[in-house]
Amino acid sequence: MSEHRYADRVRSVEMSGIRKLFDAGGPDAINLGIGQPDFDTPDHIKMAAIVAIREGKTGYTPNAGIPELREAICEKFERENDLAYRPDQVLVTAGGSEALHLVMEALVDPGDRVLVTDPGFVSYAALAAFAGGRAEGVGLDATLHIDVERAKEQMDGARVFVLNSPANPTGAVESEDSIRALVEYAGDRKVTVISDEVYEHFVYEKKHVSAARFGEDVITVNAASKTYAMTGWRVGYLAAPEDYIPECLKIHQYAQACATSISQYAALAAYTGDQEPVARMREEYRARRDLLYTGLTALGLDFPRPEGAFYMFVPMRQALIEKAVANGLVVVPGGAFGSRAPDHARFSYATSRETLARAVERLGALME
Ligand SMILES: Cc1ncc(COP(=O)(O)O)c(C=O)c1O
Repeated sequence: MSEHRYADRVRSVEMSGIRKLFDAGGPDAINLGIGQPDFDTPDHIKMAAIVAIREGKTGYTPNAGIPELREAICEKFERENDLAYRPDQVLVTAGGSEALHLVMEALVDPGDRVLVTDPGFVSYAALAAFAGGRAEGVGLDATLHIDVERAKEQMDGARVFVLNSPANPTGAVESEDSIRALVEYAGDRKVTVISDEVYEHFVYEKKHVSAARFGEDVITVNAASKTYAMTGWRVGYLAAPEDYIPECLKIHQYAQACATSISQYAALAAYTGDQEPVARMREEYRARRDLLYTGLTALGLDFPRPEGAFYMFVPMRQALIEKAVANGLVVVPGGAFGSRAPDHARFSYATSRETLARAVERLGALME
């Protein structure tokens, strides 16, 4: 037992159940626990970083990010999301994670209610707690999409509503109608929407729609991490009505100074360069999703086919999840994502088709 004292708000938060799985399972393990692309960063992006190093672009950058990158992000919004942002409405961060952190710190006062889907991405509730807020779970319907009517009932008096489509851990993509309804209702109730769109490019059936299209008080969080297979580079951003930026910038300035200079030049090449690698990754994820879904449903597991991201949220008894993990098939128990889906496990298909086929085979053997 440590003798050291810690702040209650930190002690109240558990270590992420996912990080622990990074090296789980031993040499023969099949690890579907990790939510990171197995693709390498495209070459032209790496080259831009190498050139930046050679040219000595290795000092601090402007706190909010290099102007060229903020400009490129605005062009990306216009091109892909039909949204008009100016560079002074964009703040470049160390990954989407930092953007989420800044926004929670800037918006949430002690005791404020922060609405997050349950199950949902692990960071939202933890970051709300660090800011002194209270995360409150919003339920999903039987198809793992947000239950819009129930969500609306929780909206009154809440400070923030976090929307994540395509979603981690479910792979659900919300319809345009749902997004519009949630954002408009939140706007009427003075609830700020944080829209986490880091998986926007990995949508297989529906079309991705940005929440900021439907309301003024929406903060969009995104990152180069998943789109360009750049998780380790740590570049993300938030885009918001301009008065949010200086408030978020205060925290970023003191806690972080700036996102890594070299990574920002790499991200500039990513956003302005050839987008073909993104399409290629999307098609490969689609094929993997189909392979894994076909395999799991053939084993008798019955669940809706996810439409996006690279996750499947599979109904499984806890005993089977434990047996799978004990036998080297690493998946994340639903309990890591909230309290409402303990009898599920998240399978990440950001891994090779061969690994996915082995995973299905191993699970099948354990179910016999
Ligand atoms: C839904 C969601 N948002 C944000 C992030 C954070 O991404 P980044 O690596 O850019 O910090 C993740 C990473 O897993 C995620 O799943």
